[in-house]
Amino acid sequence: MTNPAFSIVALTLFPEMFPGPLGHSLAGKALEKGLWQLKTLQIRDFATDKHKTVDDTPYGGGAGMVMRADVIDNALKAAKTQLPKARLIYFTPRGVPFTQKLAHELSQESLILICGRYEGVDARLLEEYEPLEISAGDYVLSGGEIAAFVLLDACVRLLPGVMGDSTSTHEESFGLATDFAGLLEYPHYTKPPIWNERAVPDVLLSGNHKEIGDWRLREAKKVTKARRPDLIG
Ligand code: ADE
Repeated sequence: MTNPAFSIVALTLFPEMFPGPLGHSLAGKALEKGLWQLKTLQIRDFATDKHKTVDDTPYGGGAGMVMRADVIDNALKAAKTQLPKARLIYFTPRGVPFTQKLAHELSQESLILICGRYEGVDARLLEEYEPLEISAGDYVLSGGEIAAFVLLDACVRLLPGVMGDSTSTHEESFGLATDFAGLLEYPHYTKPPIWNERAVPDVLLSGNHKEIGDWRLREAKKVTKARRPDLIG
């Protein structure tokens, strides 16, 4: 059996966390259909001592533990036999911020994901392999697994055949469609037309598609200016 184009091997100390949320909803259905593939490798299986040690204290002192380069290296070599052409990714708050642009790029490739724990991995492993270092955001998670879920969810929904209506991927926040590109989304409404004495904006009931489009673009610009002025530049 050949692998689908989007084939993933995740290196982790917690393989039982996978597929987790990715086994449900859109991503889960796509996984069942074979539109993408997810395997895990238990990093501990690649430790070489009888205690199966994967980490040790940092040289120079300080808090926490550092994951050993030799153990991760063994796991990576095993992953590469499964996916020889895969892009290497390491999750860390020191990485480049994950964006919709990166999701589009990475959804076209196979990936080996290194999910670190503790204070991260020995820096020499990163020098040796030069993985793309990615951050899920400016906060500290207890490991790379949840960052991996974020990345995989964002990529899988871009795969051909995963989402039914492709216009909804285009107009949403950060989507790549023309007018709305780089803007946060306009607000959405559905039935009932009045709820808790709050009416749906008249324009949305007018049937005038030009006015609806103009209103949505104004609302998208307004919310982006208020919440994310950095996106407007
Ligand atoms: N590991 C710990 N925190 C992280 C973050 N914000 N992004 C990616 N990996 C992480």
